[in-house]
Amino acid sequence: MLKPEQNQALMEVGPGTLMGDLLRRYWTPFAPTGELDQNPIKPIRLMGEDLVLYKDKSGSYGLVDRHCPHRRADISYGWVEDCGIRCNYHGWKFDESGACIHQPFEEVAHPDARFKDRITIKAYPVKACAGLLWAYMGPLPAPELPVWEPFTWGNGFVQVVLSEIPCNWFQCQENSIDPVHFEWLHDNWSQRLRGVTNGKAPPTHLRVAFDEFDYGFTYKRIREGQSEQDELWTVGRTCLWPNCLFTGNHFEWRIPIDDDNTLSVGWFFDRVPEEMEPFRQERIPYWYGPIKDERTGRWLDSHVMNQDFVAWVGQGTIADRTQEHLGESDRGVILMRRRLLEEAEKVRDGQEPKATIRDAEAARFVQLPIIGRDFFLAGYSMRDVANGNGGFRYPKAFVFQAGQPQEITDAYRDAMGMHPDGTPDLDRIAARA
Ligand code: FES
Ligand SMILES: [Fe+2]
Repeated sequence: MLKPEQNQALMEVGPGTLMGDLLRRYWTPFAPTGELDQNPIKPIRLMGEDLVLYKDKSGSYGLVDRHCPHRRADISYGWVEDCGIRCNYHGWKFDESGACIHQPFEEVAHPDARFKDRITIKAYPVKACAGLLWAYMGPLPAPELPVWEPFTWGNGFVQVVLSEIPCNWFQCQENSIDPVHFEWLHDNWSQRLRGVTNGKAPPTHLRVAFDEFDYGFTYKRIREGQSEQDELWTVGRTCLWPNCLFTGNHFEWRIPIDDDNTLSVGWFFDRVPEEMEPFRQERIPYWYGPIKDERTGRWLDSHVMNQDFVAWVGQGTIADRTQEHLGESDRGVILMRRRLLEEAEKVRDGQEPKATIRDAEAARFVQLPIIGRDFFLAGYSMRDVANGNGGFRYPKAFVFQAGQPQEITDAYRDAMGMHPDGTPDLDRIAARA
């Protein structure tokens, strides 16, 4: 149970708040790169700040204040040019560094005054990596953007899936260090949703353990039928610092939009069978997943992450941690809360927090604990699938979120060597083998 001020410290994300200032020390994925190819300007709300993301005609990304420093017009209604974005009200123009680079009438009226040199717009650096755009909203110089190991893997179908969740980011992140929920929220509930009431109960959790490492925490579990030799115990899953879950081939970031809303950003990798290699994506596809059943007004519950969303929003817009009763299964949650608050205090004291990387070489390839790493590195064949080895890595459908657009399902099945209905296209695979 927390005191009200501790609850507040953990959830607030605006500038100048304890956790807001900690989160601003990291690169934050907040949009798919592909989105700006259709429309080069997008209004963005991130950590309680209203901003505008743009890609100018030379290909530079900018993330600037939503409001023009002249008389506060909404810059998302402006347009991009070869360099920078121009406000539609009086034509002032800004580049990605926040410099004002053109003031049409001022430059006519007072050509020598250089008024524009005294004007800046708030601007944050943006980088593109792994099909995502990442913002850095903290004090400069920015740390390096970590290239997590799976971003370097080849021969995989990658997709980015986003959803806006109407609750605070931190209860979402607490789910990243909560092994026992899997048995109930996913295994048992899914059985009930399928109408199974007399089936064999999913294996129950016997032990859990939590460890901290350089880039977050690992959680480990032993369920009925598993032993200490299982990688779920020897390697574990990763609660990635400061606001992500990493399971080996997918990431789920919980990005604060503001105190009351979270952008769930998922990055998913499916290795294609070796018969379908080499496989390369021209661009990484993305989609926004629905979270509500429009017919009933209830939350969707059919897919793994939708089930998580049901739990998060069910805790209230901001979970009231003064009313909870933590048990043994929550030791990881307790550990993460304590460590985040400690690191946030370090930032407040002017120190560098955990898991910021300043060495460019080190950031180019950052390893994480990965169950079954060999599978992702070495791949598998359709014979392995037929033998039941690796078959679970050859799913015919996307299980994580509801609403995958048909063209992405089709592209995935094509990459995996499947017919449009998800069955293996053995003739095509044989022809390529
Ligand atoms: S308000 Fe933007 S140029 Fe005047
Ligand atoms: Fe979950």
